[in-house]
Amino acid sequence: MASNASFEYLDLKPGTGSFLEDVIAGLSSSAKSLPPKYFYDARGSALFDRICELPEYYPTRTELAMLEANGADIAERAGAATAVVEYGSGAGRKTRLLVDALRPRMYVAVDISGEQLQSAVGELAATFPDVRMVAVCGDYTRPLPLHQLDMANGARRVVYFPGSTIGNFDPSDALAFLENARAVAGVGGAMVVGVDLKKDPALLHAAYNDAQGVTAAFNLNVLERINRELGANFDVTRFEHCAHYDAQIGRIEMHLVSLCDQVVTVGHRELRFAAGASIHTENSYKYSVPEFQALAKQAGFNPEHCWVDPQRLFSIHYLVAAR
Ligand code: AVI
Repeated sequence: MASNASFEYLDLKPGTGSFLEDVIAGLSSSAKSLPPKYFYDARGSALFDRICELPEYYPTRTELAMLEANGADIAERAGAATAVVEYGSGAGRKTRLLVDALRPRMYVAVDISGEQLQSAVGELAATFPDVRMVAVCGDYTRPLPLHQLDMANGARRVVYFPGSTIGNFDPSDALAFLENARAVAGVGGAMVVGVDLKKDPALLHAAYNDAQGVTAAFNLNVLERINRELGANFDVTRFEHCAHYDAQIGRIEMHLVSLCDQVVTVGHRELRFAAGASIHTENSYKYSVPEFQALAKQAGFNPEHCWVDPQRLFSIHYLVAAR
């Protein structure tokens, strides 16, 4: 493990897989899709930051207000001696609010992008010099060998996963993810997880079809990224952003729809898109409180508490590992 004055760094060398292989596999099957993880290159991350500021995109500001209002309550439940393990780079106000409220003995951020992770944890370490800071470059969707870390003996482990990113997993993957998180927390450990709620479909539709077109640009950027990084020749003006809420399944689906018959070259492959054909780029599942609690129980958590904002837009669950 490398360390500098302010934080330790553990590189678990996560395999990032092959972008080209994933793109070819996703776009050559009859039901075309692209993994949403490829949204987040530098431009995609900047567009996502803009989404979080949009008037229609309620989750970020709602969750932040809830963390501000309930930080002391979360801290009381977690107790005085904690080790926080955050899934994500630890950049931004959600991390600061929780670390400020809990003042853990140790804070560990796990993220697949080593560079972003190190700069975020470095900044955090400067703000909280009394908290032992560790950056782990790893894939948090897989079981994590955190036994390599001396986890602040005796401290309660609190896994932190804000942002409703859990909604971007299919329910079976969300279950497997929660099981891994429960194993990291250990018996008696906890998880604090932000989950977007089911609500009026009109609000959901607006949140993913904003008037300024930032979400459309975010969605289309994945094709531009394929052009930039894989030398493909997508004409993004020939694709249209499309997002709709499927109330039966309880999820927003994002697609890129081909506006004409076209052939695109990616690597050595020519890929055909018929007019109206769609590339499924993201799911964002919405849960009622009982639905998410049932999933958490299945994963071995005891759902101890849930905060919901006054408009019932968003939920933050405090789960305790029961096994
Ligand atoms: C990161 N994730 C929780 C966002 C969401 O709402 O599902 C990603 C997003 N996609 C379009 N807008 C925001």
